Amino acid sequence: MNEMAWANEVSEKIKKKVRKVAERSCHKIPFTTENGVHSDESNPQRICWWTNGFWGGMMWQLYNATQDPIYKEAAEWSEEKLDGALMNAAGMDHDSGFRWLPTAGANYRLTKNPESLNRIRLAADNFAGRFNYAGKFFRAWNNWDETDRTGWAIIDCMMNLPLLYWMAKELKDPRYDQIARMHADTAMKHFIRENGSSKHIICFDPATGEYLRSLGGQGYGVGSSWTRGQSWALYGFTLSYMHTKDENYLETAKKCAEYFISNIPEDGLIPVDFDQPADCTWKDCTAAAIASCGLLELEKLVDKEAAKKYHDAAIRMLKALDEKDCNWDENADNLLEKCTGAYHDQRHEYPIIYGDYYFVEAIWKLTGQELFIW
Ligand code: GLY
Repeated sequence: MNEMAWANEVSEKIKKKVRKVAERSCHKIPFTTENGVHSDESNPQRICWWTNGFWGGMMWQLYNATQDPIYKEAAEWSEEKLDGALMNAAGMDHDSGFRWLPTAGANYRLTKNPESLNRIRLAADNFAGRFNYAGKFFRAWNNWDETDRTGWAIIDCMMNLPLLYWMAKELKDPRYDQIARMHADTAMKHFIRENGSSKHIICFDPATGEYLRSLGGQGYGVGSSWTRGQSWALYGFTLSYMHTKDENYLETAKKCAEYFISNIPEDGLIPVDFDQPADCTWKDCTAAAIASCGLLELEKLVDKEAAKKYHDAAIRMLKALDEKDCNWDENADNLLEKCTGAYHDQRHEYPIIYGDYYFVEAIWKLTGQELFIW
C-alpha cells in the first residue's frame, strides 16, 4: 500500500472510532482511560492539570476534518470548563500554551469567537508574568512541596512559546515576541547538548539568573535523554523558527531531529529515555507522535535530502504506532496504548490523552486535514 493510501486508511479508522468516543466523552476532559473508559478524574478537582487542553484540541481537529457538530460541542464544553484554571492563580504555570492553544486558540482560529480571544489573552499575559528577567527564561512549575522551583525552567516550555509569538502578531505588540525569543535563546544555549540531545530541567539562580545545575526530571537521570523532552525540543525549535525566521532555531531543530532519528530503535517504537538501561523495555509512544509532528513540519523547511530523511523517520514511527500500539477497538476510548509520563513514575505504558492528540495531528498533517494550532 502506498503511503497516502495508508495515511488515508488510518484517518478513516480514527474518524470511525473517535466519533463514538466523542459521544461517550462529550462532557469529560479525559487524561487517561480506566478499563478502556476515558477517565476525567483530572476534572473538576484538577482542572489546572497541564494536559486538559488536548481532548478539546483533538475535538477541534476532528471538527475541522468533518464539520460534525458533536466535536464542536465537546470542544466548547472543555474550553468553558478550563475557565476554572484561568481563575486559579495558584494553579497556573508555564503550560498556558498546552492548555489554551488547542482549545480557545483553535476556537478563535476557526470562529473568531471574542470570548476565546479573551481567554487566550489572559493565558498569554499570565504566562508572560512568569518571565525571569535575570536569567531570561520562563519559570516552569510552582512549588507543590518543600522544593523551591522558583528558578526552574524545562525544555517542554518550548511548546508554549507559540502562544506568545501568536499574540505578538494578533495584538500587534512585540513584547510577547521579545520574551519568547529570549527564552528560546536561553534554551538553545543551556538545554541542547553538543550532540543534539536535550536536558529536561535546568535550575537557575532566580535572583541572578546564574546557571546552577541540570536535573534528570522525567527522564532516566542527570545527563540522560528523556525522549518526550527531545520531541518537545525538536518540535518546539521548529515552531520558534516558523514564527521568527531566526536561522539559529532552525539549526537547533535540525540538531535535535538528527539526534532523535539516529536513536530510533529497530521496531520504530520509542523508549521512555534513549539512555535507559538496556534491559528496560518501557515505551513512551507520546514521544513518537510528537516527534513525528515536528519532523513533518521540519521537512518543509530544509533541503530535499534532509526533508526525505525527516519524512521517512516520521512515517516509520507513525506506521509502528498504527500497527503495534493503536487500540482500534471502537469500544475502548483511547488510541495509543503505551504512553509514559515519567521514567521514575509507578505507572508506565498506559493511554495518555496527549499521545492521542499528537497522533491525530500527525495523521492530519499527512492527509491535509490539519487545523494548525501552534
Ligand atoms: N510537562 C510536559 C510533559 O510531561 O511532557
